Amino acid sequence: MRLAVLKERRAGETRVAATPETVKKLSALGLDVAVEQGAGAGCRIADEEYRAAGAEIAADAAAALAGTGIVFTVMMPEAGVRALLPRGALVVGISGVHAEPGLPGELAAAGVDGCGLDLLPRITRAQAMDVLSSQANLAGYRAVIEAAGEFGRAFPMMMTAAGTVPPARVFVLGAGVAGLQAIATARRLGAIVSATDVRPAAKEEIKSLGASFVGVEDEETKSAQTSGGYAKEMSEAYRRKQAELMAATVAKQDIVVTTALVMGRQAPTLIDAPMVEAMRAGSVIVDIAADAGGNCALTVPGERIVTPNGVAILGFRNWPGRIAVAASSLYARNLLTFLTAFWDKEAKAPKLPAEDEIIKGVALTRGGAVVHPLFLPAAAA
Ligand code: NAI
Repeated sequence: MRLAVLKERRAGETRVAATPETVKKLSALGLDVAVEQGAGAGCRIADEEYRAAGAEIAADAAAALAGTGIVFTVMMPEAGVRALLPRGALVVGISGVHAEPGLPGELAAAGVDGCGLDLLPRITRAQAMDVLSSQANLAGYRAVIEAAGEFGRAFPMMMTAAGTVPPARVFVLGAGVAGLQAIATARRLGAIVSATDVRPAAKEEIKSLGASFVGVEDEETKSAQTSGGYAKEMSEAYRRKQAELMAATVAKQDIVVTTALVMGRQAPTLIDAPMVEAMRAGSVIVDIAADAGGNCALTVPGERIVTPNGVAILGFRNWPGRIAVAASSLYARNLLTFLTAFWDKEAKAPKLPAEDEIIKGVALTRGGAVVHPLFLPAAAA
């Protein structure tokens, strides 16, 4: 069976869905791997390296996709490429389906079986396939590194013969995978770090990384986590209390890193314009949630802006794509792990049992129909 790896076509996408390392392992499963020419260019993998790992280099998407049974992709293919997908192919990638609710219908119309690994259930068995975790971890690291580059002072306290440089104060909003990595990275650089989250479990995790916890703790926070491990959308009363605490805290910070997301919704606004206006000139806000609209009201998704009072807001999209070599390497392993877990060795083909908890979570379409419970057409639901 053929497996195609495409060049990503969305603006600013630098990652790739397979590396020479995973190509070798995919070939060992019995697959013929075809990689579209230039697919690794954004993360410095030359066609020659793929070829040396056993892949065929295809001149374009049509050549890569001809007769393929499986497609590995970072983001799900857009219309032009969808039209080239052989009917019946399995397409594995990040669906982004909450932002693009029409996608399952489009995949069904193309007759392909689409699996969105961003929809994986947060269970132990799925951890090594968890693309949200692997990518968020790197995003959290990268956000702090870019904040340090933007900041005009140092992160650690430096006592020198010429005087003392004070340590930077870093505040992290949202202590999930990205936020915890941001805390750890800022601590390693020597900053004084504090953090907040709505999920009660986050408090201990924040403290265990050597940061202080700042947060509203009330009856509502006791049930702020869904059974799937995600945060719930909080009430108006909670948001008011949180905003007061945030206003007092943010004004004292040099660096603010925001990572708060609520699955399937716009990112919550945690920092409003007056809070930014109260920050000192030279402070930096890094908004990792920019792709979901941002946690700061002044974030312009995709842009670096500087406010009139001198606060830089880095609202870049696709933070994992800003550390593309590592992000691709982990992402490619996530996909390899998924396929290996659902590989029928005898038939040398994927086998996706509809009743499996992981497949139930990720399968969007099957045999030309939408099957995911969240996206079933109204009549079927
Ligand atoms: P996420 O990316 O959906 O959200 C980031 C963080 O923002 C979360 O910690 C969330 O609680 C927080 N947040 C949401 N609304 C907020 C608000 N209004 N104010 C402050 N913070 C807010 O979350 P992520 O990183 O995907 O992790 C969610 C949970 O899942 C974590 O507990 C994580 O440890 C767990 N997890 C479990 C895995 C497993 O396989 N068992 C794998 C990965 C994560």
